[in-house]
Amino acid sequence: PSSMPPGVAFLSGQFTAENGIKKITRCGDLSGVFYDRAAWQAIPVDTPVYRVEMLRSPQGEGELFVGITHLQPGRVGDEFYMTRGHFHQRREQGEVYFGLRGTGLLLLQNEQGVARLEQISPGSVHIIPGFTAHRLINTGSEVLSALAVWPSVAGHDYAALAHGFALRVIEQDGKIQAKEVQHG
Ligand code: 6PG
Ligand code: NI
Repeated sequence: PSSMPPGVAFLSGQFTAENGIKKITRCGDLSGVFYDRAAWQAIPVDTPVYRVEMLRSPQGEGELFVGITHLQPGRVGDEFYMTRGHFHQRREQGEVYFGLRGTGLLLLQNEQGVARLEQISPGSVHIIPGFTAHRLINTGSEVLSALAVWPSVAGHDYAALAHGFALRVIEQDGKIQAKEVQHG
């Protein structure tokens, strides 16, 4: 006796059976996330930026969540569309990202404020250690989809990075550029 487990359709980057929570984040939800506030305000508030679909799975210490983030292509001013980004509330909890569709960057930042970028593309595997904030950035022209697996107890701390990450990724002279941000 066997049963068919959930799957991912590689071409669409979607779960084959969508049975869990779905959450859409729209431009209007991302106040203060993009540095060009005027450009952000010029985009209709209901414009979808990303969508997360999750499998139903057990919760509690030792249990895992599985989700796929679908991040639209686009820019706010010259800054590429990105997720809000977060530390886990339980800082020691890590996560694995797996690229499914599209191309972009995974921005990682430690508690000392040191940031780095990994290129994400179909098949890429990313180990996000504990104590490391993470954000997806879509630098391509199609939807960027990435599967994530993380401990159900991890939680999200968005407030710790409300002032932004140490790197911003923009398009300048037709090129993808990472800029260091000075906080003061
Ligand atoms: C998580 C995952 C991932 C993430 C989404 C949306 O810990 O839940 O990293 O599912 O939440 O990519 O990103 P934000 O939570 O930063 O909006
Ligand atoms: Ni996370």
